[in-house]
Amino acid sequence: MKHPTISLPRLIAHRGLSRQAPENSLSAVRAAHQAGIAWVELDVQLLGDGTPVIWHDLGVSRCSDGRGSLRRYDWPQACTLDTGSWFGDHFSGERMASLEAMLALLVELDMGVNLELKVNKGRDPIALVDSVLPRAMQALSPQRLILSSFNQGALAHARDHADTSRLALGALFGSLPGDWHVQCQAVDAFSVHVHWPRLKRPQAKAISEAGYPLICYTVNDPSAFAPRWGWGVTSAISDDPTLFKNFPPHHLS
Ligand code: G3P
Ligand code: MG
Repeated sequence: MKHPTISLPRLIAHRGLSRQAPENSLSAVRAAHQAGIAWVELDVQLLGDGTPVIWHDLGVSRCSDGRGSLRRYDWPQACTLDTGSWFGDHFSGERMASLEAMLALLVELDMGVNLELKVNKGRDPIALVDSVLPRAMQALSPQRLILSSFNQGALAHARDHADTSRLALGALFGSLPGDWHVQCQAVDAFSVHVHWPRLKRPQAKAISEAGYPLICYTVNDPSAFAPRWGWGVTSAISDDPTLFKNFPPHHLS
C-alpha cells in the first residue's frame, strides 16, 4: 500500500518537551521547537462536550488544579483550569490546549506531530476519530502527521474514513504481539510503535524487513537504548530529546 513520504526525525519529543514544560501543552511544543526538535508526540481526547483537547490522563487532577474525570468538563469549564502550576510556577496560568489551537501552533512552527488517539477506559474510539481526523488532515500536510493508537478500532475507523496514501497510521504496542503484522496490515499501518524495553532484536528486524518505520517509546536513558539504533530503529520518542544531543543525524535522509 502507498503511504505518505515522511522524513522522520531520529528523536521525537514525548507529550512535547515534557521534561522542560507541562506535558501536552502549547508551552511544551514551543520548548521543543526552541530546542531544535522537529516532531512532537501528543495525546488527544474529547471533553464531555466533544471538544478535542491535548490531554493524556483519564482525569484532570495530576496535571491541573481541577479534580475528576476529563469527561466532566466542557470547554468553558476546562478553560478555567490552571494546567501549568503543577509543573512549576513559571507555567502558572497555562491553559489546556484544544486540538485546534495545537494544530495552529504546529502549522505556525512547521512541526510534525505523532498525534496519539488516546482511547482511555470507557471512551468511544469512533467519536474520537470522527472529531480528530478531519481537523488534523485539514490543518497538516500528510508529511507532518502520524495518527497512532493502541486501539485497533480507532485505527480501523481512521483507515475507513481516510485515504491512507495521504494519512500515516501508527500501530502502537506495549509488547509486540505475535500477530503484529496481521494487525498492521489490517489497518494499513504506516509505522509500528513499541515500548522499547520490551522490544527484542528479532522483532525489530522483522519490522524493518517488512518495511515499517520502527518508533520506540519512551526513551529517557540514551545509553541503555543505544544498541537498539543498530537494530533498525527509526526514531525514539523521549521526554527530553536534548539528552541525546550528541547523537548525530537529526533526520533520516
Ligand atoms: O505514543 C507513545 C506513547 O506516548 C504511548 O504511551 O501513555 O505515554 O501515551 P503514553
Ligand atoms: Mg502518548
